[in-house]
Amino acid sequence: MHRGASADADAAVLDIGGEAQPIRCLGTVRGRRALYEPLRGFEMAEASLYERVGGAFAIAAVIDHFSDAVVRNPIAGVGSKDPELDEWSRDDLGRLPGLKFMRTLWVCDIAGGPQVYAATKPGATKLGLEEAHRALEISPDIFDEVAAELARSLDHFNVPEPEKGEVLAAFAAHKGEVVEGYAGQY
Ligand code: HEM
Repeated sequence: MHRGASADADAAVLDIGGEAQPIRCLGTVRGRRALYEPLRGFEMAEASLYERVGGAFAIAAVIDHFSDAVVRNPIAGVGSKDPELDEWSRDDLGRLPGLKFMRTLWVCDIAGGPQVYAATKPGATKLGLEEAHRALEISPDIFDEVAAELARSLDHFNVPEPEKGEVLAAFAAHKGEVVEGYAGQY
């Protein structure tokens, strides 16, 4: 078949292991359809955020650094005016390795990695955080301080600006859930 003739009939589906993508045959080589191009409007998928930051081990290193920094932070950790966070940071550190694991899983999942987050206290959505944080009574100001700690940890590991921005945006998108338990208690 020649280029331009019956374009619709030439449309085919290329299976590259992910979602099937529509392609179009441009011509033939020795009578067989060849020289495919993606249909107009389709762009090659770029690498996921998970891949661009370096995968599970890179994410775990950032979360490890960040989680230790949050415990030491006087606004969000030991000395916080939120009595729940102050107490957690002093008395519940046996839960810190589990918290690091769960946060790493959450970030891997939201960044497009193969891991699937499974909450111990499920929220309304798969990555929902409201039930996991309700009893902690986290205020919006504390959330912002924790986001700033995350930004510092991303800088510590020299995560490039575009990826840093995407991680922080994913975090910020769940702010409403994380602060749902705050009603001016302190
Ligand atoms: C979007 C922002 C946040 C994300 C992605 C996140 C992620 C998580 C995850 C995945 C868990 C474990 C949930 C589970 O057990 O299923 C968790 C628990 C926890 N989060 Fe967050 N969190 C966020 C914001 C915050 C903030 C601002 C604080 C304040 C310091 C905080 C403190 C904690 C603590 C102390 C726990 C452990 C509770 C326990 O002992 O079970 N989180 N978080």
